[in-house]
Amino acid sequence: MSNVTITNHPLIQHKLSILRDKTTGSKEFRALISEIAALLCYEATRDLPLEEVEIETPVAVAKAKVIAGKKLAFVPILRAGTGMLDGVLSLVPSAKVGHIGMYRDPETALPVPYYCKLPADISQREVFVLDPMLATGGSAIDAINQIKINNPKSVKFMCIIAAPEGLKALTDAHPDVEVYCAALDDHLNEHKYIVPGLGDAGDRIFGTK
Ligand code: PRP
Ligand code: URA
Repeated sequence: MSNVTITNHPLIQHKLSILRDKTTGSKEFRALISEIAALLCYEATRDLPLEEVEIETPVAVAKAKVIAGKKLAFVPILRAGTGMLDGVLSLVPSAKVGHIGMYRDPETALPVPYYCKLPADISQREVFVLDPMLATGGSAIDAINQIKINNPKSVKFMCIIAAPEGLKALTDAHPDVEVYCAALDDHLNEHKYIVPGLGDAGDRIFGTK
């Protein structure tokens, strides 16, 4: 899948191992989600174009590179995607933020949308959708459908763990969307949870179980 980047950076893999461990508590879990998101963001923004400007250092006038007027928006999928927000905003503090609310029906595992608030100028922005878990792919596909109605310049999807089933569904539904993830796991279990995964990301971030 040419549009998929699975990062194998040692720092990400190390942090991910602690994240997966069921004895890791919410405080450390939140910090790790945020740190991994920042490292993924570093990869996902690698192709931002630069332009040359002239600056004056204390020593000389110099030509220097700055990001070429790109406007970005981060859109976390509630709830668990919000755990990635601090990390990505630490790298791109000027980005705007939208929110898409969605939960999986526990019986059908189908996404149930309940909220959508996007930046008004989203058609001028490159959008990065955030969700730590790509399981069946239903939530990501539906969120990107909602975003695409508003004609963004481009959409990228960042997740921490993907299942093969979700990755295929997402790339089939949205072949133009680049996907960045820290790990591709083995399969989904009978409850559509990622194996080995990390459990329920939202519950682990917010300590709700
Ligand atoms: C989780 C996760 C994704 C979704 C992935 O959210 O954060 O949004 O499941 O599953 P899918 O790929 O099969 O759609 P959940 O439904 O648990 O909601 P929550 O974040 O509010 O707990
Ligand atoms: N949502 C989660 O939080 N974890 C999974 O393994 C699947 C969906």
